[in-house]
Amino acid sequence: MGKNEMKVIFESCSENESFARMVIAAFAARLDPTLEELADIKTAVSEAVTNSIIHGYGGGEGSIEMRGMIDGMEVTVEIVDFGVGIEDIPKAMEPMFTTRPDIDRSGMGFAFMEAFMDELKVESEPGKGTKVCMKKRLSEV
Ligand SMILES: Nc1ncnc2c1ncn2[C@@H]1O[C@H](COP(=O)(O)OP(=O)(O)OP(=O)(O)O)[C@@H](O)[C@H]1O
Ligand SMILES: [Mg+2]
Repeated sequence: MGKNEMKVIFESCSENESFARMVIAAFAARLDPTLEELADIKTAVSEAVTNSIIHGYGGGEGSIEMRGMIDGMEVTVEIVDFGVGIEDIPKAMEPMFTTRPDIDRSGMGFAFMEAFMDELKVESEPGKGTKVCMKKRLSEV
């Protein structure tokens, strides 16, 4: 299947959650993913983008970068923001840990990303921003 790469930059607003889902779905389409694989990737992207919007930028202005890479049957997606960053990454990644119980977040975003993708890596620096890197290997049909 070869290699392919893309990058999109969009504003931090909730409308762009569905935009990001559609872009990653279109990008991955050439690998002929199953509906389940596609749903997994879209959900993981939604969770990461939502996090950038509500945590990274606290609902305010900012830009979000989504990079996609295809290598054979493996899809890599990176979601990058330049927001507040994360102080304690292992703690943030624990299921049910949230810093925003006040707005009814349940702390399950990273747990979903981990469950739906094959690999999840988070890099972050307080005051600089956050990069979430996820990989999924699709089935060969
Ligand atoms: N891009 C980000 N920038 C800053 N902090 C983040 C970012 N992504 C996640 N976090 C921190 O990690 C915590 C856990 O994130 P996670 O997505 O697992 O849960 P949540 O967003 O709080 O709740 P849910 O995803 O279930 O609505 C967040 O509460 C927040 O403190
Ligand atoms: Mg979340």
